[in-house]
Amino acid sequence: MAKLMGGLATSHIPAIGGAIHEGIQQEPYWKPFFDGYPPVQNWLKNAKPDVVVVFYNDHGLNFFLDKMPTFAVGAAAQYNNADEGWGIPTLPPFQGNMALSWHLINHLVALDFDVTTCQEMLVDHACTLPLKLFWPEGPCPVQVVPICINTVQFPLPSAKRVYALGKAVGEAIAQWPSDHKVAVVASGGLSHQLDGERAGFINKAFDLEFMDSLVSNPEWATQFNTLELVEKTGTQGVELLMWLAMRAALSSASGRVREVHRNYHIPISNTATGLMAFSVD
Ligand code: DHB
Ligand code: FE
Repeated sequence: MAKLMGGLATSHIPAIGGAIHEGIQQEPYWKPFFDGYPPVQNWLKNAKPDVVVVFYNDHGLNFFLDKMPTFAVGAAAQYNNADEGWGIPTLPPFQGNMALSWHLINHLVALDFDVTTCQEMLVDHACTLPLKLFWPEGPCPVQVVPICINTVQFPLPSAKRVYALGKAVGEAIAQWPSDHKVAVVASGGLSHQLDGERAGFINKAFDLEFMDSLVSNPEWATQFNTLELVEKTGTQGVELLMWLAMRAALSSASGRVREVHRNYHIPISNTATGLMAFSVD
């Protein structure tokens, strides 16, 4: 059976792609952010996952407001990045793993999750930038299965429901008849609000409590309903739901979940940035 070997979570912000492109990672503004990643990159060089399942929210590239699935799973051989309007350079295509995609889809539908299956799927900065941050050199060396969770258009799935989805994904990975090593990636958060009266809102105390909860009490955030999460983290801060899905997936792996590394830095753009890595020992 496949081995679920760990989980990663990182913020995504289009400007990160611009900074990588310009090679300005060591400038004072960016250094505290980019300095978080080498320990995780080095851990990945040893741990060597073959495939990653990426929980992220599409921001209007693949789905727009006229058609917005709550949960969507990629089932393509290849995922292309495209210009989504931020002006950042696109990254080369990412290779899929269709066997894992369909295994996940079958498992999720059997458990009554009504997922949208996407045999063609464009991937935006939220899917591509974490992969570039974790594997900065050359084309992405791991295969990818993208899973979109809607945090863009209300109604959003509850934290409780997202946790259940993540748990089901973890179970499915553990039951996948394959010798692949699989990691789960969460892309989004932490607290931020890009528009409206609270634009620039950041809640460091909540972010740090949330990160701690993922270590010791992973279901902690499921106590909050969606509006409470928006209130505490900002309209776009609800992207932290991805982190919950990732951690829930690990909770169904066999083995002890151990924190490998974390970083937290305020702000990049309008966002409180977080990074965490977990191994399943
Ligand atoms: C920013 C943050 C996001 O999560 C995003 O999707 C786009 C932009 C920002 O802080 O600029
Ligand atoms: Fe976002």
